[in-house]
Formats: sequence, structure tokens, C-alpha cells
Amino acid sequence: MKHTAKPPCHTARLLAAAALASFATLPAYAADPSPADLVDALNGVFGQHAGARGSHAKGFCARGSFTPSAHARTLTSARIFGAGTVPAEIRFSVAGGNPAASDKSRSARGLAVRLADGQETWDMVFISEPVFFAATPASFVSFLQARVADPATKKPDPAKIAAHNERFPEGKTQLALLAAHAAPSSYATTPYFSNHAFRFVGGEGGARFARLQFEPLAGTHYLSEDEEKTLPGEFLQDELGTRLAREAAAFDLYAQPAADGDALTDSSVQWSRTPAKVLLGRLTVTAVTGQDCAGSVYMPTQLPAGIEPSDDPVLKARAPAYAVSAARRAPR
Ligand code: HEM
Repeated sequence: MKHTAKPPCHTARLLAAAALASFATLPAYAADPSPADLVDALNGVFGQHAGARGSHAKGFCARGSFTPSAHARTLTSARIFGAGTVPAEIRFSVAGGNPAASDKSRSARGLAVRLADGQETWDMVFISEPVFFAATPASFVSFLQARVADPATKKPDPAKIAAHNERFPEGKTQLALLAAHAAPSSYATTPYFSNHAFRFVGGEGGARFARLQFEPLAGTHYLSEDEEKTLPGEFLQDELGTRLAREAAAFDLYAQPAADGDALTDSSVQWSRTPAKVLLGRLTVTAVTGQDCAGSVYMPTQLPAGIEPSDDPVLKARAPAYAVSAARRAPR
């Protein structure tokens, strides 16, 4: 009997052609980008603005304090949890490299907190969503390169974004979370997450991996549809100043231990959240201080003894990239 191969169906042929066409629209990307490549990718989308951070360019500073909880010692021997209340240097920000970004934009908000007990410094550099948009530095660069505005339309090319999504589908998780709600109505009314896991050592029962999160005592509140339409693009700094004149804003810091199967090295994946959270302490924000921390560089791997970085490739890539950005924005 004569054998004839079954031709692929019309839809399969179309899908294969579309996939090939979309990959062809992506620029070549480095599988292992350098710290400068990472900042170049940010500058490529947002431009380079004098004195501004490569990402989270729009922001302001605040001060406050951190009071540890007795439960923290069950997880880690970090001495900062035995030091009583310590001062906190804080910076709130809007994600992205645009220093004029609207406070209403549906992008992540940032919280950087520096705690120093006189001997050690701990920087926490978190965002308002539980996951990051890239599992690896290569995915980070590809995500941004796909969003460089087309010179003709002045908008990102949808074909490049589709091609990126095929190559690195994890980017869609954070975008879906951001699209599901409006921007926070205050920096004091959104949670902030580490995304990465850290290894907590010296507590009871051996080392444990956990992610960190700040929970706002004021509750989580996003802009209403009406506020999204009517508020100006600048309101977050004034809102916090007015709020703090009435009372301090506070956040409880929790460690969320990993359950079996939770991804320890991929910050783009959500966790099951089954093990009980451990209260590590309370951050109290007392005053807005304008731009007095603008020159500070918060390093996500600046950790106290007793808290160690995980092998998350994104966490490993951050500090060297932040150093490049700091050098580019330093006064000359
Ligand atoms: C490969 C991944 C990442 C790269 C390349 C990157 C890059 C940068 C750069 C260049 C800056 C400006 C640093 C400076 O000039 O001081 C920055 C700031 C920031 N990033 Fe990232 N980032 C990454 C991942 C993340 C993740 C996973 C988070 C949150 C979980 C995050 C949160 C922030 C925040 C909150 C700031 C502002 C810090 C401040 O107020 O000074 N970033 N990032």
C-alpha cells in the first residue's frame, strides 16, 4: 500500500507560521546579560534621565522606625531582631524609569527600607505585587526590548510583545495582577512583597526559605473608577504627608515560609501560602522627607547575618545592575 504522509491541518500550519514570524520580530537577546545590559534595557524603554534611577525613577523619601516581634527569633538569629526599635530610611516609588510617570499608572509601586542597628544594615527593596515579571535576567531584557516604542507609531509593536510572551510566558502573571486593580490610593494602602525567597538561619528547627511581605495596617485600597478619572497624576506624596500629619502609617512585616513544591529560585511564580506566616515586626512611617534619600542606593542583597540570599538568578542580578544605575545617575 502506498503511504502518504498526512498534511498538517490548515490551523496548525497557520500557527507554526505565526510563531516563526513573531520570533523573527524579536531582537537577538543575550542568554546571560551583563549588569550594563540590564540597565541599557531599562534606558532603552524609558530613556536616561539626568540624576534619575534606571528604574523606580519617580519617588520620594520618608523616615520612620522598625520594632521587631518576638516571633522573629523562631526563624532567624539576625541580631537586628534583638536590637529593640531601630530607625528606618524609606523610599516610595513608581516602577519604571520615567521620573514623570503618573501616580495613577497601573504599574507596580516600590518600597525600599533601610534598617541599621549600628553594626549591620538590612535593605528591603520590594514591590506591590507578589511576583516579578521575569524569571531570569534574559527574560527581563527581552520583556523590555519588546516594549521599545516603534519610531513610526511611537508605541510598542504588539508583534514583538506577542513574540516575547511566547518565549517567556511568565511575564503575563504580574501583568494580569496589575490589570486586575487600579493603582493604590495611597502608598500606605498597598502591601509590598520581596518576590524572592531568602534563607533564614539560626532559628528553631534549622534553615527555612521564606518570602517577605509588608501588610498595611490601613488595609489595601485602590483608586475608585471615579478617582482614576479625576485625580491628577501627582497625588501620592501630598496624600502621604497629609495622612502622616494625622497619624503614623504602619506595616507589619511577615515571613511567608515556603511549602513543599514552592519555587525557591523563581520570583515570577506565586506561592501556595499554606504554612502560617511569621510576624517579624512593625514598620512605622512618621514623616515624608522629600528627596533626602535620592542619593542612596538600596541593595536587595544587603542582608543581616541570619538572612541569606536564595539562588534566584534575578536576585543575584539585581545588586550589580543597581550599582551600574547608581554610577550613571551619580552627580558629575
Ligand atoms: C533583573 C531584575 C531587576 C533589575 C535589572 C532591576 C533594576 C533596577 C534598577 C537599575 C534600579 C535603580 C537602582 C538605583 O539607581 O539605585 C531599580 C530600582 C528598584 N527596583 Fe529593581 N530591578 C530588578 C528586579 C526587581 C525586583 C524583583 C524588585 C522587587 C521585588 C525590584 C524593585 C525595585 C525597587 C523598589 C527599586 C527602587 C529602589 C529605590 O527606591 O531606590 N526590582 N531596579
